[in-house]
Amino acid sequence: MEEVKMLKAINITKRFGALAAVNDLSFEVEAGQVFGIAGPNGAGKSTLYNLITGFYKYEGKIEFDGKNISGLPTHKIARLGISRTFQIPQIFESLTVEESVNLGCRFGNSGKYDPGYSEEMISFASLKNECSNNTSLLNLLGKKRLMIAAALATKPKILMVDEPMAGLNASEINQMTNLIKKINQDLNTTVIIIEHFMKVLTELANPILVIQNGTEICTGTPEEITSNPEVIECYLGDTHDA
Ligand SMILES: Nc1ncnc2c1ncn2[C@@H]1O[C@H](COP(=O)(O)OP(=O)(O)OP(=O)(O)O)[C@@H](O)[C@H]1O
Ligand SMILES: [Mg+2]
Repeated sequence: MEEVKMLKAINITKRFGALAAVNDLSFEVEAGQVFGIAGPNGAGKSTLYNLITGFYKYEGKIEFDGKNISGLPTHKIARLGISRTFQIPQIFESLTVEESVNLGCRFGNSGKYDPGYSEEMISFASLKNECSNNTSLLNLLGKKRLMIAAALATKPKILMVDEPMAGLNASEINQMTNLIKKINQDLNTTVIIIEHFMKVLTELANPILVIQNGTEICTGTPEEITSNPEVIECYLGDTHDA
């Protein structure tokens, strides 16, 4: 019998008018992996997250833990165990850190509210000292930590992060890298990470899927993708490989 994959995308396509932002893409994520996604601007990476989390309808099929989740609404997908953060921080500026993470806890978490777990995730994401602060007071790293804490409060089986390093300085990138490792290793959570910063991605993720114009260029180990001539041409040559 074939092993059930944690996440399986089968020939998925999303068109915006004439543009196929995701074009007949298939891939599989196994439990326990940090699965990386790379590709140039406009490759379809964030759109892919929007498909997995049910923001848009699409052609093809996505299975989670062997169950077809295509067509399910976002909150049902969250309750099944898929959670995500956004490329540009999406937070409620009128709420405190604690209130925001509690909201995540109510949204997912198989529908059960567990304030103790919410508190645990605030500490896990190093936000304890800012717990009762308004979220608008957080700096960019703080906002990114908050999105992660709120997403983790849903008790996801898969956490999907979208360019968590964008806009951070070198020391903040180290802190974020460590947080993502801890999520995978200490919380035993499967992670999908979209990241432009190739040095960080190759340190964190294996395997890595590289896409361009919504289609796969290659999937492989960090060594395989960084030595693939097509990847070098379409991606590593671009200015993001700082
Ligand atoms: N809601 C939308 N309506 C129309 N076109 C869209 C929409 N969302 C994305 N697109 C287009 O789809 C393509 C893929 O966009 P997407 O945001 O998924 O790329 P990306 O790989 O995340 O890029 P970046 O690295 O810049 O974040 C782009 O051409 C974009 O303009
Ligand atoms: Mg994007």
